[in-house]
Amino acid sequence: MMPVGVRYRRIDRHGGELRLRTAAVSDRDTEAAAVLAPEAVGVCRSDLRELTGDRHQRRDFGHEIVARVVAARPDGLLPPGCRVVFDPHPALDRTSGFGELVELYGRPDALSAALVPVDETLDAAVAVQAEPLACAVHCVRRLETASRQLGLQRDDPVAIVGAGAAGALIAAVLLAGGVPAQVTNRGSARVEFLRRRGFLPAPSLAAIPDGRRFPRVVLATAAASPEALGRAVRLVEPNGLLMLFAGTRPGTGLGGIDLDPVRRRQQLVPIRADGSGFYVAGTHGAVTDDFRKALTLLAPSAETGLPDRLAALVTDELSLDQATRTLPRHAASGFLGKTLVRPAGPTSPRRPTQEETCG
Ligand SMILES: NC(=O)c1ccc[n+]([C@@H]2O[C@H](COP(=O)([O-])OP(=O)(O)OC[C@H]3O[C@@H](n4cnc5c(N)ncnc54)[C@H](OP(=O)(O)O)[C@@H]3O)[C@@H](O)[C@H]2O)c1
Repeated sequence: MMPVGVRYRRIDRHGGELRLRTAAVSDRDTEAAAVLAPEAVGVCRSDLRELTGDRHQRRDFGHEIVARVVAARPDGLLPPGCRVVFDPHPALDRTSGFGELVELYGRPDALSAALVPVDETLDAAVAVQAEPLACAVHCVRRLETASRQLGLQRDDPVAIVGAGAAGALIAAVLLAGGVPAQVTNRGSARVEFLRRRGFLPAPSLAAIPDGRRFPRVVLATAAASPEALGRAVRLVEPNGLLMLFAGTRPGTGLGGIDLDPVRRRQQLVPIRADGSGFYVAGTHGAVTDDFRKALTLLAPSAETGLPDRLAALVTDELSLDQATRTLPRHAASGFLGKTLVRPAGPTSPRRPTQEETCG
């Protein structure tokens, strides 16, 4: 039964301000609904970009979630107690992810697609990174498709501009698939952090000599700023491929072309800029297959050791009170590694019975 009226605490965003408030589970008349009790919620750069008003179009505050299902309707959608990671891409109405509970409303097919069952044994600090990892997997798949279209090789080396969470994950997925990947960043702190925590092997973090160019480059900075785009363009070979992962907005231009639709609609276009001709492609979000692949990479048996390496990236674990104070500071001054919010909920969902399957 849906826990209508149950009171819980959650962080809501009001413009550039966060407020921790008590809410009650509502009784909305939608075809399908679910209430989740998050074990952990990851803080993504795009959450912070919503806070600073710098995120265009999408809104999904607190979307890296590992949780248990408290209740779901219609019956049979998922039994209470199932452990899931959240896929924010199916269209749903929902409350902030930074809460003791999360309410989700929409169509049964969207709700079912958004709740991806996850292994009981996977550490929450790792499972919570399934969503950003799925976006990295999607980016690598887009890179493979566009490379094929351009006659580039699947294992041609890749330079990744941006050593934040996204750049690090994209490099890890490439390396897991046997593709040489090298990460570069405008400041040294993030590269040093990845080296210290052993997330990437030393050759992938080595400085790129001046003038070295790559057949394929991924831009994975917080925003596709003119400066970040310029660095990426200087790294791409003539006729090479520049994959846009970084946040864009209408009017983000290069060589007279608006890059926002290129990224959001995942197009592939020829561009001339900085005296060179090359191709730009876009990657946006993730699909169910990307989540499946991400969870395979996170399996405890995975040869890449990715679960332990991801656990080593966690720098901060915050309560809801602490997160309300800390996230605005992170938005203003940036942060290294993965910050997790650990809401302790008012309900302890029962575990599924042996007869009930979580998918
Ligand atoms: N395509 C998709 O499907 C998808 C999915 C998820 C996220 N994203 C995008 O990926 C972005 C990167 O996320 P993240 O988690 O890696 O962020 P992050 O961990 O905060 O890393 C930020 C990176 O961007 C650089 N940076 C910071 N401010 C910048 C600016 N104003 N101009 C240019 N570079 C800047 C940082 O360099 P320093 O270390 O020198 O500061 C660092 O390399 C997000 O903002 C989001 O828009 C895309």
